[in-house]
Amino acid sequence: MAEDPLERSGALASRSHRQYVSPLLEARENRKKGLMGLYARAPIPPGEVLVVWAGRIVTGAELAQVPQEPARYVVQIEEDLYLLSVGEPEPADFINHSCEPNAGLRGQIVVVSMRAIEAGEEVCIDYAMSDGSPYDEFECGCGTPSCRGRITGEDWRRPELWERYAGYFSPYLQRRIEALRGAERGRASRSGSPVGRQPQSVR
Ligand SMILES: C[S@@+](CC[C@H](N)C(=O)[O-])C[C@H]1O[C@@H](n2cnc3c(N)ncnc32)[C@H](O)[C@@H]1O
Ligand SMILES: [Zn+2]
Repeated sequence: MAEDPLERSGALASRSHRQYVSPLLEARENRKKGLMGLYARAPIPPGEVLVVWAGRIVTGAELAQVPQEPARYVVQIEEDLYLLSVGEPEPADFINHSCEPNAGLRGQIVVVSMRAIEAGEEVCIDYAMSDGSPYDEFECGCGTPSCRGRITGEDWRRPELWERYAGYFSPYLQRRIEALRGAERGRASRSGSPVGRQPQSVR
């Protein structure tokens, strides 16, 4: 395989990971959510880039060939396309789910803080922001008041999340949400319900 010119130049000598993780974060054990989680080492302002994932792009059929053990770190990035982390697990792989998250997606692979995060808090996204198929479903251990219980690849369909995470869904899911909303509006206007009723002139 051809040598990476960036590696050869030494420009990446200070970077020990392939994926980006903010220096404001550190990996720590979290047994309630598998093994590890990512935590704030210092206060983090809203809108901070926390993680940028990298790896290999695989289709759903290819993903099905990849064994689940040892842990398989993967995120869906498009219809039938997934980003698979390769090599040894890195801190960026340890972003857990919470039903009351403090971080969200900007595009498909960038994780940003959605609000100010205190030192010591675990950084979590809601996997409904990224997952549109059943490749990573589990019983949630987030323990928040609004915990959904089981996390599934269908959670993005929940209308209550559309407003809460506006601007933080992966673009392919945002497209699906717009399509669902459009279909809903069409149904409402055909049935004459108030949602879709057009303004009428009063004579
Ligand atoms: C990308 S990994 C996150 C890192 C994982 N905690 C680890 O140590 O390998 C995703 C997996 O972590 C676990 N996980 C993440 N969030 C969780 C949560 N809220 N409750 C229970 N398990 C969780 C699930 O097993 C899920 O399939
Ligand atoms: Zn939960």
